Amino acid sequence: MATEALEIAKPEFRTANGIAAADRKKIAEALGIVLADTYMLFIKTQGVHWNVTGPVFMGVHKLTEEQYENMYEAIDALAERIRALGHKAPASYTKYGELSSINDRDEEQSVAQMLKMLIADHETAVLNMRAATEWCEEKNDYVTADMLTARMSWHEQAVWMLKSLSAEG
Ligand SMILES: [Fe+2]
Repeated sequence: MATEALEIAKPEFRTANGIAAADRKKIAEALGIVLADTYMLFIKTQGVHWNVTGPVFMGVHKLTEEQYENMYEAIDALAERIRALGHKAPASYTKYGELSSINDRDEEQSVAQMLKMLIADHETAVLNMRAATEWCEEKNDYVTADMLTARMSWHEQAVWMLKSLSAEG
C-alpha cells in the first residue's frame, strides 16, 4: 500500500506507447521549453495588446488579442501532452523564466519596437520548436511532432501578420 502511494506521488507515471521511457523524458523536457516560450510570448503579447497607442492602435490591439487567445489554448494543450507522456508539466513563472529563451523585458517601447520584439520572440519560439520536432520525429513520437508542426505553422503566420502590420514586409 505504501509503495502504491509513493508511485502516485511521483511526478512521472509509466505509459506504454511504443516510445522508450528515456526518450519520453527528453521529449517532455523539450516540450517544457516550448511551453515556457509560449507562456512568455503569451504574456508579452497581452502586454502589447494593453499598452499599444497611436494610429495603429486598433489593428495591433485586435491582432494581439487573437494571438494571445490562441497561445492561451496552446499552453494548455502543450502541458497536457507533457502529462500524457508521463511527466510533470512546469507550472511556475520561475520555471518558465529558467526554461524559456524569450526574455521577459517589460519597458517603455514605441509601437515599432513592440512589434519588432514580438516578431523576434515568435522566431525564437519557432527555432526551439523546430529542434524539438526533429527530436520527436527521430524518436517516432509523431503525435508531438504533429502538434509542434501545427504550432510552428501558426507562429510563422503570426510573424507574417506582425511584419505586415509593422510594414516591414
Ligand atoms: Fe483585451
